[in-house]
Amino acid sequence: MPASSLETIVSLCKRRGFVFPSSSVYGGLGSTWDYGPLGVELKNNVKRAWWRAVVHERDDMEGLDAAILMNRLVWKYSGHEATFSDPMTDCRACKARPRADHVFVAQKGRDPKGMVEINAAIAAKELACPKCGSKDLTEARPFNLMFRTSVGPVDTGDDSGLVYLRPETAQGIFVNFGNVLDTMRRKLPFGIAQVGKAFRNEITPGNFTFRTREFEQMEIEYFVRPGEDEAAHEMWIAERKRWYLDLGMRADNLRVREQEKHELAHYAKRCVDLEYLFPMGWSELEGIANRTDFDLKAHSRSPGNPDAVGELHYFDQEQKKHYVPFVIEPSAGADRATLAFLCDAYDDSLVKEPPAEDTTKLRELVESFARSVARREGMDADVKQRLQAAAEAIAAGLPATLPRLIGLMDDADASKIEVMKKVRGVGEKIAEEHTRTVLHLHPRLAPLTVAVFPLKRNEPRLVELARGIKRDLQRTGLRAVYDDTGAIGKLYRRQDEIGTPWCITVDFQSLEDQTVTVRDRDSMQQERAPLGEIGPTLLARLR
Ligand code: GAP
Repeated sequence: MPASSLETIVSLCKRRGFVFPSSSVYGGLGSTWDYGPLGVELKNNVKRAWWRAVVHERDDMEGLDAAILMNRLVWKYSGHEATFSDPMTDCRACKARPRADHVFVAQKGRDPKGMVEINAAIAAKELACPKCGSKDLTEARPFNLMFRTSVGPVDTGDDSGLVYLRPETAQGIFVNFGNVLDTMRRKLPFGIAQVGKAFRNEITPGNFTFRTREFEQMEIEYFVRPGEDEAAHEMWIAERKRWYLDLGMRADNLRVREQEKHELAHYAKRCVDLEYLFPMGWSELEGIANRTDFDLKAHSRSPGNPDAVGELHYFDQEQKKHYVPFVIEPSAGADRATLAFLCDAYDDSLVKEPPAEDTTKLRELVESFARSVARREGMDADVKQRLQAAAEAIAAGLPATLPRLIGLMDDADASKIEVMKKVRGVGEKIAEEHTRTVLHLHPRLAPLTVAVFPLKRNEPRLVELARGIKRDLQRTGLRAVYDDTGAIGKLYRRQDEIGTPWCITVDFQSLEDQTVTVRDRDSMQQERAPLGEIGPTLLARLR
């Protein structure tokens, strides 16, 4: 069963060392996350797979790693200083500060026609605070999303040292267009790819790593002759969709959505989003925009930009003329892609029936939880309805619904109900013994490629051979680990839960004929294979 709630993924990530809340020893910092030992491997593999597909496997791409801190003028002429903002309103009654455009859409059922219409609706008392319901809202004001800092040892207080933490990696590419063109002697069409951190002071971060204030982007700016932009746009939509599918994402969970005119950024002629069906619903994974010649023109010297030192244009040898190329921009989030691959790979199922008395006890506790939710006062009506319906369905279907109970036990709202502690006390043990959680990650993305176990840890010859196999696999470049901290069945379960595609068990037969058991995560099939074949076989499967 795929993950029914984001909490299930968050819980797995914390439990197994993928992602931790940031600065947790000081109580954390809202919506910031640290990638743990397995998470950093997974995210690095996502970024590596992207780089390989868009730079190494193409003849028309170059890479770049531009600085995060740039001259402030980059952000003046890109338009970010003036327009990269969200409209905010303050509630005079409860002091909440919601996004005014979101309030408008939620309460009027349509997009506003700019700030003027939002403020007219506020003045006419047509909008109410989503937190307390008061209509005493202040006029909406733009709130710029760029983080500010200053360069130099002294903050003079007059903005003379002001710089921004970049809110997108794209501008670093645009301002390097001429450098890459000249040094690499490129002809159109060609593109520049970059992976790096971006920062936005988001008003409503959330949904785990989906929307955060510090995140990583994987961006391409692909430069083409004007007139060839629409075909290039189609090419990149197909290419980028294929990338997710090639890495195992389920086709049913990925869709292409055309942005409507009113959604388009000021620089875009057309934009298509690749959306993923996250547990919270269809949400943007990547945007693929036709940015026309907007950015290269914006950073070129002109009456409107006296600060630029020259022009970012291209001399076309065939046409014997200078012009400003058009740009297609496939812009993906490394954190969002990592989260999507995790959600897509997650699967849990019942592997054997628990004893009838355990099921009865658990059913009574889940029913008691449902009654407790029904009695609870002051709980959001939607949350109440969701928890009660889930608990009743789970109780009626046990033990088959045990995997769904794992999701409910991980639910942050469910944890606020006292009786959930008792459900967990009994449920976690039964779930551990009778369910199987697997991450069906593509082998190229999995944090570990192979785990090696000795059948018995107190048998030195097995331990020595198993450790030697692990070392040899590591030397071939595979991410291999050794583990002897449990019975083989338990070790398989632990590796399944973190998505390790293959496990190798060394037994007494191995000492005699130099063969081992190779177990496949997805089919759970075990095959005997000669030691010498394992490294080359696994490397070939990773290609
Ligand atoms: N240069 C174009 C640009 O930055 P965007 O749609 O604002 O476009 C591109 O961002 C991608 O970056 C998004 O599709 C998403 O994957 C990722 N992204 C944007 N804001 C994010 C945030 N606050 N947290 C995590 N990822 C984010």
